[in-house]
Amino acid sequence: MISFNEDAKIFTLQSKGFMYQMKVLKEGHLAHLRAGHPVPDPDLSHLLRPNELPDCSETGRDKASFMDNVMLEFPCGGIGDYREPCIEVMDNAGHLACDLRYVSYSISEGKPELKGLPATFAAAEEAQTLSIKLLDNLLGLEVTLFYTVFEDLGAIARSAKATSLKDKLFIKRFLSLCLDLSSSSWDMITLSGAWARERYANRVPLHAGKQRIESSRGESSHQFNPFIALAEKGASEDSGKAFGFSFVYSGNFLAQAEISSMGMPRVVMGINPQNFTWVLEAGESFQSPEAILSYSEEGIGGMSRTLHDLYRKHLIRSPYVSKKRPVLINNWEATYFNFDTDKLLGICREAAKAGIELFVLDDGWFGKRNDDNTSLGDWYANEAKLPGGLSRLANEVNALGMKFGLWFEPEMISPESELYKEHPDWCIHIPGRSRTLARNQLVLDYSRKEVRDHIYSMVKAVLSSANIEYVKWDMNRNLSEVGNAIYAPDRQQEISHRYVLGVYDLMERLVSDFPNLLLENCSGGGARFDPGMLYYSPQIWTSDNVDPIERLKIQSGTSLAYPPSAMGAHVGDVPCHSNGRITPISTRGNVAMFGTFGFELDLTKISKEDLEQVPALIAQYHKCNDLARDGDLYRIGNIFTDNTWDAWMFVSKDKSEALLEYVQVLASSNTPSRRIQLKGLKEGFWYKNDETGMVLSAETLMHDGLDMWIKGDFSSKVIRFEKAKV
Ligand code: DGJ
Repeated sequence: MISFNEDAKIFTLQSKGFMYQMKVLKEGHLAHLRAGHPVPDPDLSHLLRPNELPDCSETGRDKASFMDNVMLEFPCGGIGDYREPCIEVMDNAGHLACDLRYVSYSISEGKPELKGLPATFAAAEEAQTLSIKLLDNLLGLEVTLFYTVFEDLGAIARSAKATSLKDKLFIKRFLSLCLDLSSSSWDMITLSGAWARERYANRVPLHAGKQRIESSRGESSHQFNPFIALAEKGASEDSGKAFGFSFVYSGNFLAQAEISSMGMPRVVMGINPQNFTWVLEAGESFQSPEAILSYSEEGIGGMSRTLHDLYRKHLIRSPYVSKKRPVLINNWEATYFNFDTDKLLGICREAAKAGIELFVLDDGWFGKRNDDNTSLGDWYANEAKLPGGLSRLANEVNALGMKFGLWFEPEMISPESELYKEHPDWCIHIPGRSRTLARNQLVLDYSRKEVRDHIYSMVKAVLSSANIEYVKWDMNRNLSEVGNAIYAPDRQQEISHRYVLGVYDLMERLVSDFPNLLLENCSGGGARFDPGMLYYSPQIWTSDNVDPIERLKIQSGTSLAYPPSAMGAHVGDVPCHSNGRITPISTRGNVAMFGTFGFELDLTKISKEDLEQVPALIAQYHKCNDLARDGDLYRIGNIFTDNTWDAWMFVSKDKSEALLEYVQVLASSNTPSRRIQLKGLKEGFWYKNDETGMVLSAETLMHDGLDMWIKGDFSSKVIRFEKAKV
């Protein structure tokens, strides 16, 4: 899987359908040779265009023209490569240049952990890891590049570690991944949005200059997701080359594609260098988060399936990853802050009758919180609302045959809280500056261990006080005035990253102390839907928007990088609280079945007709979830280019079962048939359609297709196919 050709000084990394090669140049710079389709040639040094580019060792005075045009693995700033660098280090003299040269390499089986950081994992027989040591002699800076190659997937995990060998250094930028390519005919796909419309997919051609997405909000954000793809011009959902770049991190990030003056694309990904400087004392190291590079020749769909498999198999640690999650009901949109035990139990009684398995008590159960002005940080039950506290409520919910789950927002503090009275300095702030409120709250300084310890002891006490089997961990604002009164001035720019490390520390404690807890991450909807969070929780709340029609875009965009099994998806009320749309409960259910499936409405208030349909929807979830959760996703419609309908399929790994889900957004009369060609089936197999009973070959289902026509806007259907004997 990983080999080194000593003569040509070429590293070859070979995973399923993906080959990645690099070469140590004469002067020790580590060049990138190629990434793409596997080829047998032992030496492809000519791809570095030696006849056009003078080797810098031979024409030292023209090094700049060389460095600026050669493909590099970990480009350094300040030595003649004017494209985006991966590293900038300032020494005590104030200089910024860095010149890393090859020293040595080693190869190990499996994958080492990244201490304190979420990262993919693999057993010895599943992956190999290459470590390449580079050195800047003048700075006394050693950088180790890590490449893990997964045996069964077209994906490589990359990260880097910097160690100062002699002096104090200031790391001003330290990215995780660079990919230089030689031709510019690529489109860039990004996921962008806002609250209630997260992760809409955009595809634009790369052009000269830098096209960048980023977050400087302290979390991965609603606005941009730490994911980009490069799709070869003309690549479709099903064919053509596509690279996926995904950052296993939950804080400020940068993801950028740049086309140089010579038409060469450079993609970089890592911690956003804006407001970042990390001090390295002699002997200290800094480990970057991990970035994933995936490659597919089966178009954008193939790229997504590789990332889904990678994340389900090698990132999500939760025991729930391939288990059916309990069907839940959450009281947020049912009651907001306006509830008491009786009200909640009324909902639970209806829920239990319908077959719902878990009740989640959302915001408003603690301190004096009856609206969003107070009490974050005061993590004890409000007995005025919940007499007998959480344990009585949990017991009563359990007595109905349901599990009990609870909402927290552990990273926040309300200025109107007991915690703030005691510790006004515990929030992130710049002394002397006013503290900007968002949703009436401030952010706790998770870069400080004593703050984390205190919050965790409260959370742990609550979780130990009652039978709580699920936690929703929310985070409802961005960071501002990032600073604190205790760090030295030259360490203030470490706080954003230390904050994220602090969040990871707390999540790690939570999943270690409560290994069977079902944890769902959330951030004002889906502002922290990133691979970092998936390391701790098997599911993330996708969006506060539960309108099934807008969810088509949100879920489809999210599925470019993330498995549907990780997407929190609920049946909401009508009119939908975020956009006022009225849709049938069957379509709300069918769209929620794409993800983890639950309800978020007051079952005591919905229409009798809708209530009667709930058990059937739950039965359908139980029937279909194994496929949706563990199968391969094939997107058929593209709601971003034609928003009148959408369709997708889940196909089991052995191809014996498949599920087609179709949503008709806009009905029309007497129009030509909409014939949907199925995908992902196995030629040679025959499949029985559970709606019509008809048995058809995979060939006809995929080439001729099925006619779809339903009456009514926002209508939908789910058809299951099973391999049949003929
Ligand atoms: C934002 C979440 O996305 C909602 O589901 C809900 O939990 C609220 N916060 C509660 O404040």
